[in-house]
Amino acid sequence: MKSLPGPRRAALITGASSGIGADLARELARKGYDLVLTARRADRLLQLKREVEAESNITAHVIVEDLSTPEGAQSLIRQVTELELPITFLANNAGFGIHGGLLDHDPEKLQSMLQLNMVSLTTLTWHFGRVMRARGEGRILNVASVGAFQPSPYYAAYSATKAYVLFLSEAVQHELRGTGVTVTTLCPGMTHTEFHEAAAHPKTGLIAWTGMGPVTVARRAVRAAIRGRAVVTPGVLNQLTGFFVKLMPRSFATAMAGVMMR
Ligand SMILES: NC(=O)c1ccc[n+]([C@@H]2O[C@H](COP(=O)([O-])OP(=O)(O)OC[C@H]3O[C@@H](n4cnc5c(N)ncnc54)[C@H](OP(=O)(O)O)[C@@H]3O)[C@@H](O)[C@H]2O)c1
Repeated sequence: MKSLPGPRRAALITGASSGIGADLARELARKGYDLVLTARRADRLLQLKREVEAESNITAHVIVEDLSTPEGAQSLIRQVTELELPITFLANNAGFGIHGGLLDHDPEKLQSMLQLNMVSLTTLTWHFGRVMRARGEGRILNVASVGAFQPSPYYAAYSATKAYVLFLSEAVQHELRGTGVTVTTLCPGMTHTEFHEAAAHPKTGLIAWTGMGPVTVARRAVRAAIRGRAVVTPGVLNQLTGFFVKLMPRSFATAMAGVMMR
């Protein structure tokens, strides 16, 4: 589908090489955004670049970067700045989880996850939020999880990073009222992507038969971000979970999450 002519807008999408991020890129391309696609797997990013450029009248740029290192976010910012694009949409989507008991996590992997899921996301929100505020327009989409709604045993550190993302984003959304910049938090539930493979979490039991496709999740996320909504939780089951968890004693919600995530 070709986009309509008009002033160029550009979107930066982290974790665009697979899953929700790749579908966020497809959706934003359909809406006419030029794209900056970033992740570590260059081949996947180049394949997506070819696909979206063939289908939509946009240009996609590829930047290969590891955002789990302390230098990754600053290096990405430098490279995006050199492109001189009007970034009016930032999707902080890159992230991974580690399944299992916290004390059994590999310590280096744990550090990488904290850096990627929280520190790099915060640095990118800070930098591009300032650029957008100066322009008087912008949309930031930060990807959290339904795991942010309660402590999740066997994803203890991962779900805590997502609670950080949710709290940070909701607070900054409030701070930015009236600036033309909004921050939307996406809280997906189980989504069929490469996430569980990366987390070394076999897809059995509940997670095997529940879940949504990344296309639907990405579509709802982009729509909510463009409208400037604070939080979007795709799927009725996930919305009900979010609602009932707030009514339960925290210890009970934690125990239930423990049963689901074991
Ligand atoms: N799938 C679910 O059930 C689910 C549920 C709730 C929330 N989420 C969240 O949704 C987001 C997207 O995940 P997904 O489900 O689409 O999983 P996915 O298919 O595994 O995608 C993860 C993306 O993050 C990128 N990434 C991982 N490590 C990176 C690093 N060190 N530096 C830069 N990029 C990195 C990956 O690219 P490379 O490997 O090429 O670097 C990939 O593009 C994540 O934040 C995840 O926590 C997922």
